[in-house]
Amino acid sequence: MSAIIPYYLAPMIILGIETSCDETGVALYSTELGLLGEALHSQVDLHAVYGGVVPEIASRDHIRRLLPLIRQVLGDAGVERPDVIAYTAGPGLIGALLVGGGMAAGLGLAWQCPVVPVHHMEGHLLAPMLEDAPPAFPFLALLVSGGHSMLIAVKALGDYELLGTTVDDAVGEAFDKTAKLLDLGYPGGPALAALAEQGDEEAYAFPRPMLNRPGHDFSFSGLKTAVMIEVRKTRERGDFESCRADLAASFQRAAVDTLVVKSIRAAKSVGLDRMVVAGGVGANKLLRQEMAASFPGKVYYPRLAYCTDNGAMIAVAGALRLADAATMSEIRAQARWRLDSLAIPGTGG
Ligand code: KG4
Ligand code: ZN
Repeated sequence: MSAIIPYYLAPMIILGIETSCDETGVALYSTELGLLGEALHSQVDLHAVYGGVVPEIASRDHIRRLLPLIRQVLGDAGVERPDVIAYTAGPGLIGALLVGGGMAAGLGLAWQCPVVPVHHMEGHLLAPMLEDAPPAFPFLALLVSGGHSMLIAVKALGDYELLGTTVDDAVGEAFDKTAKLLDLGYPGGPALAALAEQGDEEAYAFPRPMLNRPGHDFSFSGLKTAVMIEVRKTRERGDFESCRADLAASFQRAAVDTLVVKSIRAAKSVGLDRMVVAGGVGANKLLRQEMAASFPGKVYYPRLAYCTDNGAMIAVAGALRLADAATMSEIRAQARWRLDSLAIPGTGG
């Protein structure tokens, strides 16, 4: 594992805490040795019966899981206490964020160590830094998760220009909602991608939203509606079951085509020849394949486990933001927080 922190003389061990949504993630990262250990608890089973994340259930489960996971990760790594604690301060579910923030504050006091608030999407953006050949700045980032679809010119650490975002549903949300239409349950993205492998992606000519418009924004609600109309027709005809895989494959192809074309166009417009694809939808196999095949520059991905939410990406983001570490004076938790409002570490913001 690569150690990527050049500017601190003393090696630091950072405890990363992620509780923004429905995964409790914990990791230990050394600026000298890389990742020392990690643990993840997914709440998927708790929320599946409701067809989506129930915020109060999420908060309560984070409370139950977080401390045992921290104990486990520290114990397994043989580390008594970290030098710094990094936690996700937003964006996300406010109650869930407060659990991680409260834990970071308490442990920071108990251990007398500084604490760094981390932006969840900056965590996703920096997840490829955990790999052996991390991307150098500058690069274009396609950040695609359940709550966000963003194209960002990453000029330096903390210097982010938002080139485009979604005007309606995030792409992960479109995968999840379409999966629900196809009776695939929650969370639907991975299940839809699996079903799509058995289908014909040319069976339905779904729209590639916003491709013929200028600018770098996305829109996915029209694509979801187009699938809904076809699903209704198949139900009326009585052949829904036999059409499901084709619907999944055609939806996935339209969504991926849109992401690939718009990302390449955005990279060209700002002259960037490196691209990072990260966030939950970055785990999509077709997206990874198509971007690598079509982008003329080099594409960087986190490994699959670091596309979806995890503690390691928060720990590495904290390591890169050591200059922002401070004695905790308040619990920072922001449900909404713009990525492009961040500043270069050590300069405030
Ligand atoms: O980054 P993430 O774990 O959580 C958020 O910050 O939102 O992303 C979760 C999203 C969900 O919408 C999920 O359906 C989607 O990522 N996702 C996928 C795949 N794996 C996860 N979407 C398409 N294909 C996948 N293989
Ligand atoms: Zn996420």
